[in-house]
Amino acid sequence: MKRNSRMPGFYKLSVADRRRAAAEALGIDVAEIEAAVEDGGLACEKADKIIENVIGTFSLPFAVALNVQVNGEDFIAPMVVEEPSVVAAASNAAKMVREGGGFIAEADDPIMIAQVQLDEVPDGARACTRIHQHASELIELGNHAVPGLCRRGGGVRSIEARDLGDGMLVVHFHVDCRDAMGANLVNTVAEAVADRVQELSGGRTGLRILSNLCDRRKVRVTCRVPTWALTTDGYNGGEVRDGIVRASRFAERDPYRATTHNKGLMNGLDAVVIATGNDWRAVESGAHAYAARNGSYSPLCVWRADGDYLVGSLEIPLSLGTVGGPSRVHDGARMGLRVANARTATELAMVAASVGMASNLAALRALATEGIQRGHMALHARSVAIAGGAIGADVERVAQLIHGLGDITVDAARRALADLAIAANSAPPPSE
Ligand code: MEV
Repeated sequence: MKRNSRMPGFYKLSVADRRRAAAEALGIDVAEIEAAVEDGGLACEKADKIIENVIGTFSLPFAVALNVQVNGEDFIAPMVVEEPSVVAAASNAAKMVREGGGFIAEADDPIMIAQVQLDEVPDGARACTRIHQHASELIELGNHAVPGLCRRGGGVRSIEARDLGDGMLVVHFHVDCRDAMGANLVNTVAEAVADRVQELSGGRTGLRILSNLCDRRKVRVTCRVPTWALTTDGYNGGEVRDGIVRASRFAERDPYRATTHNKGLMNGLDAVVIATGNDWRAVESGAHAYAARNGSYSPLCVWRADGDYLVGSLEIPLSLGTVGGPSRVHDGARMGLRVANARTATELAMVAASVGMASNLAALRALATEGIQRGHMALHARSVAIAGGAIGADVERVAQLIHGLGDITVDAARRALADLAIAANSAPPPSE
């Protein structure tokens, strides 16, 4: 079935109707969606088997980003995030990108790095040479430790020894992890090869662990947004395009701004990472290390004008998996993977990176025009209304009242709720 991620009016539906619409678009039984996400996707008994000292579970909103088109195909991107505006903004920006042909993404093979540290190496240059001379033997030794991965077409591809000075050496094993995130596989390889690497180096083995700077597993995304699609109420498309380019240049010159620029990108990307049960700390550490690779912290996504288009380019290391990890036990994460409907871990990474790019575009478009607070506060008012005690239809009513008053506080929400109750009690009874 060819998916369509364009669902106009989706946001206006009730939660139950959204589930039905998503189920239909994805070809998933709605009862399966309900069962997977109803209680946060993880029963307490299961949670107790995942980590230690469990006293409960902790839910976050599970939503979907619409309009996402990557390499000509539609994806409904699962997003788990607590921040208002992020999902709506990503869907909205993805729609603009769609007008220019969608996101064009490509990715490296899913290569992770296993590091073996060596200390007290008497002759670093000689040790590097010996290790490289024994590359085939070491690769075979590493592969022997991960037979399942080799059967699935992955395994150790190459090695690299680097002299770090002062008798310290590091040997990298480049492991193709196929559809796994790969941390366990890579750590297994590192431990399996360490003794032989030690022998060859004449030194002493230190750490044996993956590197989260997975710069051999990068995703690159570009998009071309027609200027007219950027138009807002008060600004024409050309003004918005130029404002976004100026915002990009600001981030390229200033690490303080680059950090916030990248935070906006990670808003969307992390939400997909979390919804699919992936390790967002690994993704975050890799992304920011990569952003600082040239010695100064830089934006991961940059924007330029090209005639009547705004052109975005993103490059990011991304270690995501579609097999193993929490998806084995977490019903919500398993459903997130089904919603994402990516054929491989690499495709999932391309979708997640595209949603990140959409979030970045949405944030810059708002910042370059009216600022983010107006839209943000309108949504924030809903959370405040709930904190003030509103439930059901009253949430929207209270949110509108306190937003209109410009007093988005829990006290104002309580007062608005009390006023609504008084108004309801004093209303004449409906006529027969
Ligand atoms: C807020 O979560 C993200 C933004 O600050 C990103 C940005 O400034 O580009 C709006």
